[in-house]
Amino acid sequence: MSETLVEVKNLKQYFPVRAGFKTVPLKAVDDVSFEVGRGETLGLVGESGCGKTTVGRTVLRLYEPTAGEVRFDGELVTDKNITAMRKQMQMVFQDPYSSLDPRMTVEDIIGEPLDVHHLCANRKERREKILELMSFVGLNAEHARRYAHEFSGGQRQRIGIARALAVDPKFIVCDEPVSALDVSIQAQVINMFEELQEKLGVAYLFIAHDLLVVHHISRRIAVMYLGKIVEVADSDELNGHPVHPYTESLLSAVPIPDPDVTRARKRILLEGDVPSPLHMPTGCAFRTRCRFATEQCAHECPALTDRGGGHFVACWNK
Ligand SMILES: Nc1ncnc2c1ncn2[C@@H]1O[C@H](COP(=O)(O)OP(=O)(O)OP(=O)(O)O)[C@@H](O)[C@H]1O
Ligand SMILES: [Mg+2]
Repeated sequence: MSETLVEVKNLKQYFPVRAGFKTVPLKAVDDVSFEVGRGETLGLVGESGCGKTTVGRTVLRLYEPTAGEVRFDGELVTDKNITAMRKQMQMVFQDPYSSLDPRMTVEDIIGEPLDVHHLCANRKERREKILELMSFVGLNAEHARRYAHEFSGGQRQRIGIARALAVDPKFIVCDEPVSALDVSIQAQVINMFEELQEKLGVAYLFIAHDLLVVHHISRRIAVMYLGKIVEVADSDELNGHPVHPYTESLLSAVPIPDPDVTRARKRILLEGDVPSPLHMPTGCAFRTRCRFATEQCAHECPALTDRGGGHFVACWNK
């Protein structure tokens, strides 16, 4: 059995958008490749609009990819097998308020995927499975008949996770699962994700814009900028030795509890705004905000290259 569970190769997602009289492609995801190992967590970070959600949705084929391929357990994911694949690959959404139907009971929400995939032989088995899932995510069994709207954000996210787990998936895309929650609740929910991984061996693509959150939960982290991955490395390596100027600036904005580290780490402010994906700079997309940009950066887009030990960087000058 290979160690790699999910393999994404040269994935592209171009949305057709209207610009005046023309339709032009908005390159939300542009040639993204990565792997997620069995039971591993790969963090995916980057500013708002850089394409994180689109990566997650395209990997799960909630959007038809413009180009590229996704393999799950070595098997190519296609239109034809995606229904069966959904049993293996699930998604937990950012906003537990809009992603759960408030008029459904907890039992109905968690039971739906069980019914869709015909996973229970009878009502008794279904009920037992639902209660087991509820206890997995720390929900009280007495709440099974309550409606989603009666719960707090943190509890709703637990319902969403129980629903994703119902089909016993091997891979879950977690799209900013804690960013809509109170800070005090965030740590609890993150801990739950970790405990579930230990118990069930499930792998995560964990999307967040908060580097502290992903650092805590991920073994490796991929950094995105305008539709492309610019750096991938082991989580501690990326935090300790960021190479790409964009990663450096993201990290320099993260508050660190240790004052010595904070002092040693200079705050690097990025100039200008993120360019619109409709008016992408030529060459390296980051060059318009980069302190190190040269002529070459304007002409050629750097590829992700291995700098040793699985630390990949896409930059001409670093
Ligand atoms: N269905 C769509 N049609 C057209 N453009 C889209 C669509 N979905 C996303 N986009 C655009 O694609 C780009 C990437 O969006 P995406 O939501 O993937 O970013 P994100 O990194 O998840 O941002 P956030 O941190 O705000 O969630 C943005 O420019 C967005 O406007
Ligand atoms: Mg998003």
